[in-house]
Amino acid sequence: MIKKLKHNIFKEISEVADQMNMETYVIGGYVRDIFLKRRSKDIDIVTIGNGIELAKNVAAKLKNKPKVNYFKNFGTAMFKHKNLEIEFVGARKESYQRNSRKPIVENGTLEDDQNRRDFTINALALGLNNSNFGRLVDPFNGMEDLKNKIIRTPLDPNITFSDDPLRMMRAIRFSTQLNFEIHADTFRAIAQNRDRIKIISAERVIDEINKIMLSEKPSVGFKQMEETGLLKIIFPELLKLKGVEKIKGIGHKDNFYHTLEVLDRIAPNTNNLWLRWSALLHDIAKPATKKFIEGQGWTFHAHNYIGVKMIPGIFKRMKLPLNEKMKYVQKMVLLHMRPIVLSEDVVTDSAVRRLLFEAGDDIDDLMTLCEADITSKNAEKVKRYMRNFIVVREKLKEIEEKDAIRNFEPPVKGELIMETFALKPCKEVGIIKDAIKDAILDGEIHNDFDEAFRFMLQKGEELGLKKVT
Ligand code: CTP
Repeated sequence: MIKKLKHNIFKEISEVADQMNMETYVIGGYVRDIFLKRRSKDIDIVTIGNGIELAKNVAAKLKNKPKVNYFKNFGTAMFKHKNLEIEFVGARKESYQRNSRKPIVENGTLEDDQNRRDFTINALALGLNNSNFGRLVDPFNGMEDLKNKIIRTPLDPNITFSDDPLRMMRAIRFSTQLNFEIHADTFRAIAQNRDRIKIISAERVIDEINKIMLSEKPSVGFKQMEETGLLKIIFPELLKLKGVEKIKGIGHKDNFYHTLEVLDRIAPNTNNLWLRWSALLHDIAKPATKKFIEGQGWTFHAHNYIGVKMIPGIFKRMKLPLNEKMKYVQKMVLLHMRPIVLSEDVVTDSAVRRLLFEAGDDIDDLMTLCEADITSKNAEKVKRYMRNFIVVREKLKEIEEKDAIRNFEPPVKGELIMETFALKPCKEVGIIKDAIKDAILDGEIHNDFDEAFRFMLQKGEELGLKKVT
C-alpha cells in the first residue's frame, strides 16, 4: 500500500504534517481510484486541525511555491502542483439543514469526517504521518464493497441522502461509470428520498447526467433513474417514451428502451457528448406525434421536426448550453431518419447530394447516429440496412469528391442576381437563388460559376426579367 503513495507530494505533506504535529490523511476519490487502478488528478487531504495552515506550509516547502487559494468560511484550501489539484480541509462534523445544502460545520475527528461522506468506497483514508504512512483506515468496510462492486452509504442512507440529495444521482453515476451494483437499502432510500432532488441546482444534476452519458453503458444509469422515480422529476420527456400501446392487436416498440439501446450502441463509436445527446433525444417527440391510422398502424409523423422544437426547452431547464452545441443536436435530430429512408430506396446521386448539403461537416456523425438507430430484432433486416449504409457511405464519398457539396455556397450569390436584372431585394431573387441550388443538388448543372450564371439568365427570362448588365 505504501507503494501506492509513491508520488513525491505525499512525502512532502507527510513531513510538514509531522513537523506541525497534525494527524493527516489522504481520503475519498483518490484513495478509491488507487484501488480501482483509475487515474485521478484530484487529491483530497484531511487533517485534524487547520487545513489552511497545513496547505500554506506544504506549498511553501515546494520548489515552485504554488499559489494557495483558500476559503476561510469553509476551512478549505487548494493549490495546483504539476498536473494535480490538491485540496486540504480540516476534519469536520457536519449536519445539514433540511431545506438547504449549507451545512453547519464543527471541527471533528477523522471518524466524524468519514461518517459524513457519501459512500463506503469514498470514505477510505490512508495515513500520511510517518507513524502510519500508507495505513488504511476503513471503518465501513469500503474495501469489501470495492471488491464486491457495491455502492452503499456509510450511514443510514436516509441520513446520507438527506444531507446532500445530489448523492442519489452520484450513486447512480458511480454505479454506471464503475459497473457497480447499488445496495438494495441504498437503492430503496433513493426511491424514498427522490423528491429531495428538487432542492439541488440543475447545474449539479446535469454534471452527473453528463457523466452517465459519457459512460461505457449509459442505459444503466437511465434505467436506475427510471426505477427510482428520479427520471420523472428530472427528465419527464424521456419517461414519456416508456410503454407500449396496442390497438387492434398492433403495438409499437417501447421507445424508452429503444432510445437507451441506441445510446448504448452509439457509445463505443463516439465520445462526443453531443452526439450521445442526439441519440438520447432522437425520438423524444414520438409520444407527442403518435397516432394509430387504419391500414398503416402506428405513425409518428414529423417527430423529428417536433423533436427539434422541444430541444431548447429541455436544454434550458437542464442548464445545457443554448449555443452551437444545441444547434448541432437539433440538426442531428432533424435529419436522423434521412440516411435510413435513403438506404431503403435506390440511392440516387441527387438524394445523396441533398443529404450532404444539409448535414455538411456533420455527415459522418449523422451516419454514426443512424447506424446506432437500427435496433430491429430481425437479423435479416439489420443486415440489409447495414449493407445499404455501406452503399450510402460509398456514394457520399464519391459525390463529395466529385461535387464538393459539403458546406457548399451556391456559386451565384443574391447580389449578382440583383445586379444582373437591376432588382431590389424581392421574391424573385430568392426564387432564382433556390432554383440554382436545386439544380446543382439535383445534378442538372455542376457546382460551377459559368453553368450557374447561364442557368440564372435562363431562370430570369422565364420569370420575365431583363438582363441589364
Ligand atoms: N463527497 C461526498 N458527497 C458529495 C460529494 C463528494 O461525500 N456530494 C466526498 C466523497 O468522499 C468523495 C469526495 O468528497 O470521494 C470527493 O468528491 P468529488 O471530487 O466530487 O468526487 P470523487 O469521489 O473524487 O469522484 P469524481 O472525481 O469522479 O467526481
